[in-house]
Amino acid sequence: MTSLFDLTGKRALVTGGGRGLGLGMATGLAEAGAKVVIIGSSAAAEKSAQALREKGLDVTGLRGDLSDREGLSALFDQAVDLLGGGIDILLNNAGVQRRNHCEDFTLEDWDTVLNMNLTTVFILCQLAGRKMLAQGSGKIINMASMLSFFGGFTVPAYAASKGGVAQLTKALSNEWAERNIQVNAIAPGYMDTEMNTALVNDAGRNAEILGRIPAHRWGKPEGMKGLAVFLASSASDYITGAVIPVDGGYLAK
Ligand SMILES: NC(=O)c1ccc[n+]([C@@H]2O[C@H](COP(=O)([O-])OP(=O)(O)OC[C@H]3O[C@@H](n4cnc5c(N)ncnc54)[C@H](O)[C@@H]3O)[C@@H](O)[C@H]2O)c1
Repeated sequence: MTSLFDLTGKRALVTGGGRGLGLGMATGLAEAGAKVVIIGSSAAAEKSAQALREKGLDVTGLRGDLSDREGLSALFDQAVDLLGGGIDILLNNAGVQRRNHCEDFTLEDWDTVLNMNLTTVFILCQLAGRKMLAQGSGKIINMASMLSFFGGFTVPAYAASKGGVAQLTKALSNEWAERNIQVNAIAPGYMDTEMNTALVNDAGRNAEILGRIPAHRWGKPEGMKGLAVFLASSASDYITGAVIPVDGGYLAK
């Protein structure tokens, strides 16, 4: 690890870091030297953190409900305390998915997805951003999606939320760039995680998706490490407001 990508002494919060892509990226940040707190809704956050600690990495798990707007500020403060009182890197990874045809999509599902994937992301950006503005530096990484660019099928709330994440990333970047806070988004392609179990198990959709990906394979959580470390490190200090795909070439086709 060259000093350009070294995260030693940096304090990172990764939401939804107990499994899937968040776990892959939290591992990458910790391997690069960061002290990491992962927040998750289940015991997986604590279990995954424990497993990483056993490998010598500085990772703490915190269980909490990020969709609870009232409790979010207190949960964030708890995470910052565990990080030792400050935050240098916020990785807004946690997200949810609901599938149904547009005409049948319930408002309850709509609210669940928009609240978690967009409103929670905005609130955490505000909470972390205030601290980063005060200290004069910071890195915020949001999780966008291919559905920040495309509309998809049967996922109207998810597509709307991820389109929103891309635009929110640019809006925050515009205001905070001159104050040395870089705000970027990662847009994963098709990743083999629990969120996509339904697609992976649907032979027809699976073949369709693989046929559209130039790399001809689903992505894996480990494949997210490189960009996460890059966007969290000083190597990316002049990159902000970008939405960067990690997609095996999908967008380019
Ligand atoms: N898997 C993909 O193909 C893909 C593609 C594009 C974007 N993404 C995005 O990447 C991110 C991670 O996706 P994933 O596939 O690893 O998902 P996942 O379902 O495997 O993991 C989601 C994580 O979010 C956490 N989470 C969800 N709701 C929460 C809540 N209310 N409180 C606390 N934690 C909560 C879960 O605990 C879990 O750790 C999401 O934002 C997703 O939209 C995924």
